Amino acid sequence: MTQNKKISSGLVEGLEQSHQETLLRTDWFYEILLKLRYEGKPSLGKNLRDAGEVLKFFHGEHSRHMSCEENIIFPFLVIHVPKLESVIGVLNADHDDFKNKLQTFKDLISELAKDKTDSDRTAILEKIREVGTYMICLLKSHNQFESASIHKVMETELHPDEIEELQKQIRKEG
Ligand SMILES: [Fe+2]
Ligand SMILES: [Fe+2]
Repeated sequence: MTQNKKISSGLVEGLEQSHQETLLRTDWFYEILLKLRYEGKPSLGKNLRDAGEVLKFFHGEHSRHMSCEENIIFPFLVIHVPKLESVIGVLNADHDDFKNKLQTFKDLISELAKDKTDSDRTAILEKIREVGTYMICLLKSHNQFESASIHKVMETELHPDEIEELQKQIRKEG
């Protein structure tokens, strides 16, 4: 292992761990989507509570991860590795897309919690399934793309001093 890779691996490891955590929540999210669709009214309350837990994670830990990337990691990389500019444009657009879908999902869940006719409930559940599935696909492809692009570049192209500076900025923010 090169010196640069040794220094950067702690930082990249932390970011990858965060992606792993998101992946676990995403799998749980998928299960909840299935239950919401197929378990019907008797389990609706419990499934809505579970959906609320996943939303808490997306609004909390996952949102902090995205902010750290948007405010610190992405701008830093654009300065130090300018060829990443277009990649980072795509990654930022993914974040915006995810935040919009998260808001839509939250609104749909609130709608579902209100008293509805069976056919209204079925229509909302269908929209929830569509938006939720989109969010899952987006998160998975986004995280894979980050691993293969920016995480790899951090390990191979940043100078040890640059890695230390980036870590310092992340610690300061966190
Ligand atoms: Fe990201
Ligand atoms: Fe990320």
